[in-house]
Amino acid sequence: MSGSTAWTSFRADQFFTRKSDELVTEKATFCEASYQNHFTRSKETIIETIKGLKGVALVLGVGAAHDVPLKELGEIFDQIHLVDADIRYSRIAVAVLSEELQGKFSFEQADLTGCFEEFSHKAEEIAKEAVSYDEFGRRILDMLPLLTKNRFGYQELKVSFVCSSLISSQLFSYPTIYLNRLCRAFYFRNFTAPLTRMGEYTAFISQFILNHIAEIHNLMAPEGHVYFADTFSGRTIEDVKSTLGESRLVLPARKYIEDVTIYDYMRKYFRAISDTNWTWTVPMERSSKTISAKKEDGTSCTISVETETSIEYLVTSFHLALH
Ligand SMILES: C[S@@+](CC[C@H](N)C(=O)[O-])C[C@H]1O[C@@H](n2cnc3c(N)ncnc32)[C@H](O)[C@@H]1O
Repeated sequence: MSGSTAWTSFRADQFFTRKSDELVTEKATFCEASYQNHFTRSKETIIETIKGLKGVALVLGVGAAHDVPLKELGEIFDQIHLVDADIRYSRIAVAVLSEELQGKFSFEQADLTGCFEEFSHKAEEIAKEAVSYDEFGRRILDMLPLLTKNRFGYQELKVSFVCSSLISSQLFSYPTIYLNRLCRAFYFRNFTAPLTRMGEYTAFISQFILNHIAEIHNLMAPEGHVYFADTFSGRTIEDVKSTLGESRLVLPARKYIEDVTIYDYMRKYFRAISDTNWTWTVPMERSSKTISAKKEDGTSCTISVETETSIEYLVTSFHLALH
């Protein structure tokens, strides 16, 4: 084991609260403007999806509900059950509604992967024991198939509406973010599954999305409807502004899910009533530097160059019903 002096315990609940604090801070500060278009489009599309529905609604991974129209859900449904691994921000979002509407909401703090606590606990134990990064990677891969999945209170429901907004990609990426943080503390590097076992690791994290879709299907009443949205692709954009003018360099598209044909999987359970998409540009970092250049007449000059890197996500949303 190496580098463990910087380590403080990384329990699952602390990981979730730290992540949602980061998300909410990011939305409230430098990303605010770029998030607004996404929030508006998301809420408008959900409002369209719930027209004419009634009964019980379930919102999975609701978080701070920036992209979920809680007031309109409260006006349409008799009961709305909110679920998130960190329910603090959901409670804050509901607290601004009228007392009558607030009375319709219930809250459940649950990890939708069903095994994050066991996963994080075992991964931390392995990091403390492993004598090398290679041993750590091997033992992590050996441990993953042995995890057991919890059942949750909300699984007893049969609901007329399920909302899954930008949560499936989180189920997919949070385990990797966790392993990266663990590896940085112990081995000063990010986690990469051993090359020969990359397929096993991808299958492990992909399962969370596929299980999530299967679970939505199980939760629905026969006449139920689903709003499902996520960002399945994104591209990095570098906006380079210099004293010589402006140019834009678009880097190749980056796919977030390689092997999972999520659309085929959705078609297995649901028919799409409609779908729509929009882009969402999130600033990542800004930097500036001074470079030397030669002018046409051969003399030298300095140019200041500012680079802003953003990721442009494509959000795709579906209104689904059972076959
Ligand atoms: C990108 S946010 C979703 C957007 C959210 N509707 C909003 O506007 O704030 C992701 C949410 O997923 C939750 N989350 C991530 N992994 C989870 C898990 N395994 N179980 C339950 N919730 C999870 C996070 O706590 C966070 O609130």
